[in-house]
Amino acid sequence: MRIGLIGASGFIGLRVTELFTQWDDFELVPLVRAPGSLAVLARQRLPWRIHSFVHIEDLTRGLEGLDACVHAAIGDAAQIKTMAATAYEACARAGVKRLVWLSSASVHDQNPAPGTDEASPLQFKSRLSYNRAKAQAEARLLRLQEDGRVEVVRLRPSVVFGPRSRWIADSARELEAGTACWVGHGEGICNTVYVDNLVHAVARALLADGAAGKAFFIGDREKVTWRMFQIAIARHLGFGEEVFAPIQAAEVPPEKDNLLNRITLSPAYGQISRRIPDRLRLSIKQVRAALQKQAPASSWVRPARPARRISSEMMLLQRCEWQLPSQRAEKEIGYAPPFSFEEGMRRSLAWLDFTR
Ligand SMILES: NC(=O)c1ccc[n+]([C@@H]2O[C@H](COP(=O)([O-])OP(=O)(O)OC[C@H]3O[C@@H](n4cnc5c(N)ncnc54)[C@H](OP(=O)(O)O)[C@@H]3O)[C@@H](O)[C@H]2O)c1
Repeated sequence: MRIGLIGASGFIGLRVTELFTQWDDFELVPLVRAPGSLAVLARQRLPWRIHSFVHIEDLTRGLEGLDACVHAAIGDAAQIKTMAATAYEACARAGVKRLVWLSSASVHDQNPAPGTDEASPLQFKSRLSYNRAKAQAEARLLRLQEDGRVEVVRLRPSVVFGPRSRWIADSARELEAGTACWVGHGEGICNTVYVDNLVHAVARALLADGAAGKAFFIGDREKVTWRMFQIAIARHLGFGEEVFAPIQAAEVPPEKDNLLNRITLSPAYGQISRRIPDRLRLSIKQVRAALQKQAPASSWVRPARPARRISSEMMLLQRCEWQLPSQRAEKEIGYAPPFSFEEGMRRSLAWLDFTR
């Protein structure tokens, strides 16, 4: 099976590349968006291709001759939605039969209601634009797949960790900076999936007959709390649990959005944006990025102690009370996570040592 991997240079994409090139079932063609994205991939002899992930004609050329496609790229909220439609249309035009779309459990928000399963409605009103975009991207794929030209499989992992993951690197950085904190005492559920388990799920999604048209949560078997996750990293670095400051659970305010952002994320802009010349579109993006940067606080006033702040995403994640079920993936696509959480964490910490 010849597989195109869109976003091969990312955390998950690189691991898919490393494992798929060792397995006999697949012949992998990594796709990246620019030559600079080949920094790691170019160390191997691979038939990579460089193509846009948001222009249908260009991506269609990138997918020619392939049987299936895995989408592991990300962008800003508007690009996430565009990428879904672009990938579907390019797959259809190139004759690619199946598209495995890396969605996210955040389509149900980061603290889904107890009882949430794959049949629960998508959350279009999340306070975070990433979540809304992921939900809208899935909805778009659901509509598009109705014409039957491409089989779409949507995978919904939550906290994907492993060597090179930000969940490991960021936690270590906060511990060492003295800014580590947790909500309550970290008793919220951390829906982990060790990256190699996710790659196994991607392989099953490509091969399994019963996968077409469906969504699957993908997680580790164990019920892992944020306390278990963070303490493992802290202990490894020589810290005790007193290093974590407890933070009160609080409501997350809606993400602030400036006017330009709202315009460029609107469906109407999506319709007309293809007719806007690339240069003008780039300028709009630059203005948007500049507006998003907050003005720095006065450099004369420095906090006595480093701030222990928690992002809105983390606040939601750490208030999660529900372990997302992987039973559907187990039954319908033969998902059987090859690694325990403990082994995944052992390997992640070995990588952390390697980086120091
Ligand atoms: N990591 C997690 O915990 C997690 C959890 C749930 C779902 N997911 C989903 O899994 C997918 C992969 O995540 P990841 O953690 O591997 O992300 P990542 O490390 O940030 O990699 C993202 C990939 O997307 C490409 N990319 C970034 N911005 C782009 C843009 N504007 N246009 C085109 N390509 C762009 C990157 O290319 P460059 O190398 O060129 O920048 C890279 O190949 C995403 O769809 C994400 O939503 C991840």
